[in-house]
Amino acid sequence: MRYIKLRDLEVSRIGLGAMGMSHGYTGSGTDDAESVRTVHRALELGVTLVDTAEIYGPYTNEELLGRALKGRRDQVVLATKFGLVSHGGEGAWNPDSSPANIRTAVEGSLKRLGTDHIDLYYQHRVDPGTPIEETAGAVRELIEEGKVRAFGLSEAGPDTIRRAHAVQPVTAVQSEYSLFTRGVEERVLPVLRELNIGLVPFSPLGRGVLTGTVRSTDQFDETDFRRGNPRFTGENFRRNLALADEVRALADEAGATPGQVALAWLLSRGDDIAPIPGTKRVARVEENTAADAVTLTAGQLERLTALPPAAGATHTEAQARLLER
Ligand SMILES: NC(=O)c1ccc[n+]([C@@H]2O[C@H](COP(=O)([O-])OP(=O)(O)OC[C@H]3O[C@@H](n4cnc5c(N)ncnc54)[C@H](OP(=O)(O)O)[C@@H]3O)[C@@H](O)[C@H]2O)c1
Repeated sequence: MRYIKLRDLEVSRIGLGAMGMSHGYTGSGTDDAESVRTVHRALELGVTLVDTAEIYGPYTNEELLGRALKGRRDQVVLATKFGLVSHGGEGAWNPDSSPANIRTAVEGSLKRLGTDHIDLYYQHRVDPGTPIEETAGAVRELIEEGKVRAFGLSEAGPDTIRRAHAVQPVTAVQSEYSLFTRGVEERVLPVLRELNIGLVPFSPLGRGVLTGTVRSTDQFDETDFRRGNPRFTGENFRRNLALADEVRALADEAGATPGQVALAWLLSRGDDIAPIPGTKRVARVEENTAADAVTLTAGQLERLTALPPAAGATHTEAQARLLER
């Protein structure tokens, strides 16, 4: 495994997204023992960046990681997120990045994760009700107190990134980025490079579609949130499966799996980019991590870059209101 720096934070080039172990996708929460083995296998393979959030579950994903990392805490750069649980009464899925809410959130996350510090603490979504300077100031205090090592934002736009960075330097922005979702390239990535901020692409496998293993939404549990996602419905889904077929054809040529090709393409976009593919299975973490060693030719990379992005919005309308793009 190779390692890169997100600003001054060293991480494995390929991380591990833990969300699906407890939340959102088919089979979440059904086999915690395999999820724990997946975390351990990732660490053995040199993965250091492990990603969770307070809202995943809520809480159960952090609890799972707390158990998985017992005795191994020092091997990981542990990233979690605040700001989608309002502890003042409104509860989960209510944006609240007020300083008081962050203070409450951090104590809960530290406890569940079984640690005295969070390596990378992201605001999960920009909170329209709290000036970003106040949020950044609250995280700055947590850094001064040693509870947090570095500050991150998620799905923040250029203006928010600049304003936050002026108060507390931002180490990484986590946003959706993949062969399917290129939005960050135009406005966000140039600002990150100007300010020396790393990019952590989430859903780098197109929520599973780019691996070629998702062929029908009949494969999904009733509660799988992809069922309501515009990219997984009707004509959009049909077009996205055709795109995944193109990735598969190129992968066959390259002697890699489609998921590995999707990850290798992301890695080729820069040394300041560390994707966090999500899986709850040992065999898949082995496959995904091995993408670090996949080399694509310049011609193959060009063909991938020339593919159109996926059809359909990345989020439902309600979810999209919190994205700054
Ligand atoms: N900041 C944010 O707002 C935000 C939003 C979404 C996600 N995230 C983070 O980003 C991480 C990754 O994103 P994601 O989980 O949404 O999407 P993803 O990594 O694009 O895809 C995950 C899906 O692909 C499947 N999968 C993974 N590896 C596979 C392989 N080699 N072959 C076949 N299928 C494979 C997984 O199923 P199995 O688990 O069954 O293997 C899961 O259903 C999350 O875990 C989370 O930490 C952050």
